[in-house]
Amino acid sequence: MNKLKIELNTLEDTTLMGKKLWPLFPKRCLIFLQGDLGAGKTTLVRSLLNAAGHQSKVKSPTYTLVEEYNINHQIVFHFDFYRINDPEELEFMGIRDYLDTDAICFIEWAELGQPLLPAADFILNLKAHAEKRILTITNNTDKSLCLNWKNKDLLL
Ligand SMILES: Nc1ncnc2c1ncn2[C@@H]1O[C@H](COP(=O)(O)OP(=O)(O)OP(=O)(O)O)[C@@H](O)[C@H]1O
Ligand SMILES: [Mg+2]
Repeated sequence: MNKLKIELNTLEDTTLMGKKLWPLFPKRCLIFLQGDLGAGKTTLVRSLLNAAGHQSKVKSPTYTLVEEYNINHQIVFHFDFYRINDPEELEFMGIRDYLDTDAICFIEWAELGQPLLPAADFILNLKAHAEKRILTITNNTDKSLCLNWKNKDLLL
């Protein structure tokens, strides 16, 4: 497991982080986004999808539970389990079928879906301090990665 802690000082930094992170994710992986309400989870997913080439809106899936994207043949599911009252609701929505798809899955509030979910390949944890965000990236895959951030090569 590798961990990296990075300061995102502005929204522009979050946009840039989307550009740097997106190419590192395998075509099929599970990514949890952690952090309080308003920490910036959806904003980071938006940056990642924009970096992938998605130009239209990225809505928060708070009410729909999941939003689906097909970006140049890459399927992406963006979940938000904040409104889940019982993890069984995930069975009803067919979570297993989603997770069995060749797709990148982003999940906000994954903790509310436990114990139904498998372990994440990556965890993106955000902490807010006014406009600043502290992003901690955990790489749980067995492959180490290199993240170039502001002209430094960081090992992840
Ligand atoms: N550096 C920054 N990076 C990301 N977001 C920022 C930053 N500075 C300010 N913000 C603002 O913080 C807010 C983050 O909201 P966002 O919906 O992304 O949070 P969230 O973690 O998804 O919350 P929720 O748990 O309600 O889904 C946005 O209004 C965004 O503009
Ligand atoms: Mg959100």
